[in-house]
Amino acid sequence: MFSGIPLFPEQASTLAPRVDNLYFFIVAVTAFFALVVTVVVIVFAVKYRTDDPLAVGARIHGSIPLELAWSIIPFIISIVIFAWAADVFFDLQRPPDQTLEIYATGKRWMWKFQHIDGQNEINELHVPLGRAVKVTFTSEDVLHSLFFPAFRTKADAIPGRYSTVWFTPTKLGEYHLFCAEYCGTRHSGMVGRVVVMEPAAYQAWLTGGVVGGSLSKRGEQLFNDLSCNTCHRNDGSGRGPSLVNKFGQSQLLTDNSSVTVDESYIRESILTPQVKVAAGYSPLMPTFQGLLSEENVVALVEYVKTLKGAVGTASAAAQENR
Ligand code: CUA
Repeated sequence: MFSGIPLFPEQASTLAPRVDNLYFFIVAVTAFFALVVTVVVIVFAVKYRTDDPLAVGARIHGSIPLELAWSIIPFIISIVIFAWAADVFFDLQRPPDQTLEIYATGKRWMWKFQHIDGQNEINELHVPLGRAVKVTFTSEDVLHSLFFPAFRTKADAIPGRYSTVWFTPTKLGEYHLFCAEYCGTRHSGMVGRVVVMEPAAYQAWLTGGVVGGSLSKRGEQLFNDLSCNTCHRNDGSGRGPSLVNKFGQSQLLTDNSSVTVDESYIRESILTPQVKVAAGYSPLMPTFQGLLSEENVVALVEYVKTLKGAVGTASAAAQENR
């Protein structure tokens, strides 16, 4: 609020004040120099005004101190803005280690959210107060952009890969969420709300009306239904690698490069398995492109994440984790 006028959305996340402070600083610096230049132009126009049409201005030669001043001062200001912005940017980009994970899919023209406990929502997202939330999302069709103005965070939803945003809500209430990338006729209707709740109320909300169990449970079901388990055996004896303890690790590939096993790599391996094949295995896996919805891909990703523990007892460990 600025003198009662709501110029800015509320600051409802830990990062919101930091983004705003940087923004205000840049605006203040810009306004200051705009003002100085304007005032100087007006003062000089009055002071050095002449009616003599033949008047010639005094010749001015270089001034080292002046040139140094107008080089060094802007340099310092730019570096301050750069360093400050980099600090905020890295924090915006890097979620903390412990986050509440939520998956989302953008499609014309709605946002679908999936909680790992199994709750699904459309154009609505419920989150607990004071907890870091990470939203991992992709698009089913064209470019969209998931934007939470009150949390000052936004990222494009790109078909074929995962993007993430994270935030820690600091205020209870309802806030807007938008699609911030023009995506067709009803782009302007691709909006929703995010509801920040007390943690206890959030827990109560989560447990109400869940159908089909948790995301990883659904993933496990799919893993069996699609016969993934016939090749990806937990004891490593299958034609594909065991997926136990794979998440978060580095995986060596057939071309001797390596890749971190994250959400994007698992997704890519399901949809285009021939692209990055684990070292020691043949490119036998068929593609599941067109056979799985993004929701089901996410369920499989969540299932792979829960495959932890000693080789062979992964299923038991996955149960304990729930
Ligand atoms: Cu989706 Cu604009």
